[in-house]
Amino acid sequence: MQAVQWKDGILVLLDQRLLPAESIDVPCRTAEETADAIANMVVRGAPAIGVAAAFGVVLAARQCAREGLGMPAFREKCDRIRSARPTAVNLMWAVDRMLILCTPDDEKPDERLALRLEREALRIQSEDIAACRAIGRHGDALIGQNDGILTHCNAGALATAGYGTALGIIRAAHEAGKNIHVYADETRPYLQGARLTATELHEEGIPVTLLCDNMAGWLTKTGKVQKIIVGADRIAANGDTANKIGTYSLGILAQAHGIALFIAAPLSTVDFSLPDGTGIPIEMRPPEEVFHTMGVRTAPQGIEAYNPAFDVLPAAYINAIITDRGVAKPPFSASLAALRDKA
Ligand code: MRU
Repeated sequence: MQAVQWKDGILVLLDQRLLPAESIDVPCRTAEETADAIANMVVRGAPAIGVAAAFGVVLAARQCAREGLGMPAFREKCDRIRSARPTAVNLMWAVDRMLILCTPDDEKPDERLALRLEREALRIQSEDIAACRAIGRHGDALIGQNDGILTHCNAGALATAGYGTALGIIRAAHEAGKNIHVYADETRPYLQGARLTATELHEEGIPVTLLCDNMAGWLTKTGKVQKIIVGADRIAANGDTANKIGTYSLGILAQAHGIALFIAAPLSTVDFSLPDGTGIPIEMRPPEEVFHTMGVRTAPQGIEAYNPAFDVLPAAYINAIITDRGVAKPPFSASLAALRDKA
């Protein structure tokens, strides 16, 4: 299953809203279509939206070249992509990395610029797969024989260019012959755990048990979980981590039951400009997502709903941040900076 593909100059996104019932590709030919696909969760998962955004910048350049538009119009289109969702820093990181390629010599977007951008987007895509493989290798060393592993949301192949971050570690441990068992939170309201994580693991023969989010407390209390591994949408310089709503609760459970909690993410998910997690913007999504489950209304009319898409887990609840450059241990301000400076 590939979330993001670049085919003959068209961005092709697997519509993750329909999985696993239907497998339908959505072609994006413009920056606007790309921004809408990100905002509407056709593609989701921090690294995957970063990769999709990079190709969106290529589409923006070609559009402007076709329509005879200048650099301000191009930058406006890129801004629209950059602001499609607020929490995952990979989105802004990817657009900014693409825009570095524009020089004062680029008076207006043309095919030469588009080709440079296309090469960079393809590089971002292949680097992400390599980063996931590296996260898998580093993380596998922390997984024991017979571990029960609880994960939340989907930090798998579908959330990245391939292989996954949290699921990359699980895949690597499985490939290394470890007898592991994964517990997947269903992850209301979007059900990324049920629809995406359980599907990915089941298709590869990795043993997985699905649970409703409110069952995680009892699961951890009864000793079935030895490790909790989740992805990240943005990590502040001190290690505070924004991830799918519900991650905070898992941190409290991990601490209460003496279970190690690991964050798995490429180093590009660390936002070194933020000293701590208080500055991370949390996306609030429409109440309709809470009122409905797979299109069926499950709540009365006339009430309100609370629907933050992410929460921030303070660094104190995190045992390690597993990146493509190595494993950061507390205190994270020093260890994350050391990984950044190592390259
Ligand atoms: O709202 P989503 O589905 O984009 O949220 C995704 C997550 O929270 C993932 O855990 C995170 O992006 C890491 S993906 C490798």
